[in-house]
Amino acid sequence: MEYLPDSSRYEKMQYRYCGNSGILLPIISLGLWHNFGSVDNFDTATDMIKCAFDSGITHFDLANNYGPVPGSAEENFGKIIKKDFSAYRDEMIISSKAGHDMWAGPYGGNSSRKNLMASIDQSLKRTGLDYFDIFYSHRYDEVTPVEETIQTLIDIVKCGKALYAGISKYPPEKAAIAYKMMKEAGVPCLISQYKYNMFDREVEEATLQLAADNGSGFIAFSPLAQGMLTNKYLHGIPENSRAAKSTGFLKREQVTDDKVEKARKLSAIADRRGQTLAEMALAWVLNDSRMTSVIIGASSVSQLKDNLATLRNLHFSQEELAEIAAILN
Ligand SMILES: NC(=O)c1ccc[n+]([C@@H]2O[C@H](COP(=O)([O-])OP(=O)(O)OC[C@H]3O[C@@H](n4cnc5c(N)ncnc54)[C@H](OP(=O)(O)O)[C@@H]3O)[C@@H](O)[C@H]2O)c1
Repeated sequence: MEYLPDSSRYEKMQYRYCGNSGILLPIISLGLWHNFGSVDNFDTATDMIKCAFDSGITHFDLANNYGPVPGSAEENFGKIIKKDFSAYRDEMIISSKAGHDMWAGPYGGNSSRKNLMASIDQSLKRTGLDYFDIFYSHRYDEVTPVEETIQTLIDIVKCGKALYAGISKYPPEKAAIAYKMMKEAGVPCLISQYKYNMFDREVEEATLQLAADNGSGFIAFSPLAQGMLTNKYLHGIPENSRAAKSTGFLKREQVTDDKVEKARKLSAIADRRGQTLAEMALAWVLNDSRMTSVIIGASSVSQLKDNLATLRNLHFSQEELAEIAAILN
């Protein structure tokens, strides 16, 4: 049956300009790191993409290595786009990245020009797309000169394989070099992608303001701390959760008593606000006006819907923020 998107989708979402650019991103974006690989259920993956698009999510975040197996999230996304979304490509912002381990040998997993140029061609082939909207350097690899990586991003945009470029997880001093180079080349850094959630607030020190000062948008990954900022782990580690799966990046030992105790206290505040903990955790990240969007993950349509319900209450009173801060500190 032909997929017809919900005609009221754009009324359901809120959008923010991405830094100093003309690009609006949905405040909730969908990431395909987990749950879209060849080990996962393809029908569920398809349903999640449709539910997201029907809800006004226009931004989908990929990387060459997402799976498992690495590359299979891009392949699956490409199949879904080809079958159901080819008429809607211009309504979507699709991003990918390169820089983590992907193929064997010395060129398969760093931030060199060789890796990035080969990677974007491989990613375009796997997804069947003509171009990415955003292409990221996935990380500063501590060896490749930042100038080499950033010049490659600039060239990728200039040759039309991506419309915009971004950086991910760069230490502030390297990010500063990147922003300057990109600005001077006329390819400003559209977006900076970093981990940010109630349990992991390192970017508050310098990175978030540095991005804002340089006109770059900011997008938070793992805003739910891979599920620890939901009600999921309050009573142990459920089967089928990311922490229980051998393919998940969240390890059992990361679900500490201290985190669970904090989640329990936060959950009580969320209850009072008439929200789930997941909703409150997302709203809390978005409460910072420098934040363009959060990239959530989901393993089911119902999780996605729960997370989208965040849009119903994004406001915090000063008392609530103080109470949350007291728990987190
Ligand atoms: N740039 C980078 O280096 C980088 C790194 C990591 C991630 N990312 C991007 O950020 C995206 C999101 O990362 P993430 O998946 O770690 O985000 P997250 O939103 O913090 O965690 C998502 C996981 O939490 C659980 N969950 C989500 N909603 C839930 C709900 N309502 N109730 C209960 N459990 C819920 C699910 O895990 P279960 O499987 O347990 O159900 C889901 O897969 C990735 O897909 C990727 O695009 C980028």
